[in-house]
Amino acid sequence: MTTISLEAVSKHFGAHAAVDGVNLEVKTGEFLTLLGPSGCGKTTTLRMVAGLEQNSGGRISIGEQVVSDANENFFMPPERRRLGMVFQSYAIWPHMTVFDNVAYPLRIRRRSAAEIKDRVMKALSLVEMDPYAERPAPALSGGQQQRVAIARALVFEPQVLLLDEPLSNLDARLRTQTGDEFRALQKRLGITSLYVTHDQGEAMALSDRVVVMHSGKMLQIGPPEEIYRRPKSRVVAEFFGSPNVLEARVVNAARGENGLVTLDVEGPGWKGSARGEGDYKPGDKVGIMLRPENMHLMGDSAASMTWRGEVVSSIFRGASRSVSVKTAAGALSLDTTSFNPPEVGANVTVAADQMAAWVVGL
Ligand SMILES: Nc1ncnc2c1ncn2[C@@H]1O[C@H](COP(=O)(O)OP(=O)(O)OP(=O)(O)O)[C@@H](O)[C@H]1O
Ligand SMILES: [Mg+2]
Repeated sequence: MTTISLEAVSKHFGAHAAVDGVNLEVKTGEFLTLLGPSGCGKTTTLRMVAGLEQNSGGRISIGEQVVSDANENFFMPPERRRLGMVFQSYAIWPHMTVFDNVAYPLRIRRRSAAEIKDRVMKALSLVEMDPYAERPAPALSGGQQQRVAIARALVFEPQVLLLDEPLSNLDARLRTQTGDEFRALQKRLGITSLYVTHDQGEAMALSDRVVVMHSGKMLQIGPPEEIYRRPKSRVVAEFFGSPNVLEARVVNAARGENGLVTLDVEGPGWKGSARGEGDYKPGDKVGIMLRPENMHLMGDSAASMTWRGEVVSSIFRGASRSVSVKTAAGALSLDTTSFNPPEVGANVTVAADQMAAWVVGL
């Protein structure tokens, strides 16, 4: 049991509530992400779990253990909470080499030299920093230092990991790659992870569940796909992607499965239908969210070439889904529309637009 639980947790700085009555439970082995605009209270929430900040209200527990309770005036210092942490400012030790930085958590746990070497090099190669093992830490770029900090947090395979924008200084390619690899490792080791980002793409690709925060409060919590497809408010819809939101009027409302309703709606110059949650009646004014990737121009088909193969991975990224298909021509990567995804293991046909095929030589 390595859950993280927050009960009515608040943090006031003077009269300002940076975090305001947050209730949250991160389940064992879950990857949960706090997402929200700058200043909404993400870092403050994480720092309270870490014990770097004391909550002014509520109670925080890690596993069975209460680590902070404002009512009881109980507070356990950070070093006793046994968490792995990677913070926004990558605190790596300047007087050590890259290798020694990553080895440090293993040395204080008195692991053998052979085990330390093996695990440090594995952790460094995960973030593509193995060639830099003997470099003094200050002789690294910001992104490289951040990668060393990630390797150091992972090297002792902690049960609970707190990460505050750990990928923010990486370039786009490394960011996606390190994120995807980190997610695979987190799943394999079952590390309970509380992650902070303001990058919605990252939040969607990595998380089991996402919490959308705004002004210190939780607006919505759920799996990425649910929040993306079924935002409970316009604020959440517009924070997650850049959707069209059309004004419309309800013509007819019919209740369907899972508490969903289907509305016939009309707006200036158009009519159609939309699904939603809640109670609506004819005449109600509503907003209809339509995401750009779900709108198409008609008549844009082109002759294509095809391959048969098996789906080996499928990652939800919001606007699209990254699918990898093993074929006789090798592994093919494709971005598909994120609705109706193929299952991993499914046999599929991949098609490419002939017009897009370009010769580059070998
Ligand atoms: N030590 C402090 N003293 C006073 N106010 C603070 C302190 N730390 C944070 N705040 C305020 O609390 C609010 C939440 O800050 P926090 O750092 O948690 O935001 P965040 O969601 O992590 O933002 P970002 O995405 O920019 O990192 C902000 O309004 C911030 O100014
Ligand atoms: Mg922050």
